[in-house]
Amino acid sequence: MFPMTRMRRLRRNETFRRMVRETELHVSDLILPLFVRPGSNVRNPIKSMPGQFQLSVDTLVEESKAIRDLGIPAIILFGIPKMKDALGSQAYAADAIVCRAVEAVKKACPELCVITDVCMCEYTDHGHCGAIEPNRDGRPDVDNDKTLELLVNESLAHARAGADMVAPSDMMDGRIGEIRMALDEHDLSDVPVMAYSAKFASAFYGPFRDAAESPPSFGDRRSYQMDPANLNEAMREIELDIEEGADIVMVKPALPYLDVIRWAADNFDLPIAAYNVSGEYAMIKAAGANGWIDEKKAAMESLLAIKRAGAKMILTYWAKDAAKWLAEK
Ligand code: PBG
Repeated sequence: MFPMTRMRRLRRNETFRRMVRETELHVSDLILPLFVRPGSNVRNPIKSMPGQFQLSVDTLVEESKAIRDLGIPAIILFGIPKMKDALGSQAYAADAIVCRAVEAVKKACPELCVITDVCMCEYTDHGHCGAIEPNRDGRPDVDNDKTLELLVNESLAHARAGADMVAPSDMMDGRIGEIRMALDEHDLSDVPVMAYSAKFASAFYGPFRDAAESPPSFGDRRSYQMDPANLNEAMREIELDIEEGADIVMVKPALPYLDVIRWAADNFDLPIAAYNVSGEYAMIKAAGANGWIDEKKAAMESLLAIKRAGAKMILTYWAKDAAKWLAEK
């Protein structure tokens, strides 16, 4: 008790603070999301995400070298196809943009881990994450089991192109097991699956839908993504994905769901990933640009908090900046 106990004693200088610091962010914790589209020499700024760009395969390769040189271990790729249709055929076509990007990046930077986002929303003309059929109420909805087939095709296409890991983000039931089995049957048993397990139907994905040109043309994603109110359901989603063979489970978004990350880290021994999403990035960027907040400090505090909550891997648009900031210290 005070005055015997004085918590401030070990906060007095930076040496003490370093010695007692419980959590440290490392560059090896970071994964950078990138957007790739057809064309050459493309570097389209994404308006709602300052500092982020849609790239073509050639500029992506240049970017990948810079990322590797910063010590960032991994990127995750999102594709913007040349055309969209009802079943998202450009997600799994032989010349799919993500497959071409994977081949080119792996050739230039073999040591960089290339993860691919597996989902339909960037490739369908309706912008939903799967095949649309009328549901029991007669309303159009994403058909779970029909979508599984598309996701399997997409995962196989990415893995055959050389993706180091596939990351299904669609939230269909049973997809992790189906993808795992298909990879194993096709001699791709070495390819790990990072499951977007607890993915919430979040307003914080807004800027991403600009970046990936994937807003749903009708309705929303609440019939497949989770209700932000539910922690028990997140536990069940994570348990199911682990049973189905996930190697890494993800919680998304990160900051509004630190409790879910903590729960997952306390209950499972496999690596937990967290996605510091576009809206979390855009808010700090906007406030920083206005001089209302110190972007670097707010970003690094966010990433540290996500790590403290229990995430081993953090998908973040700040990965390059954070790598530089970490190296400055
Ligand atoms: C695809 C997908 C989305 C994000 C990652 N994968 C969008 C969505 O589900 O609507 C969002 C990432 C971000 O906001 O940074 N389904």
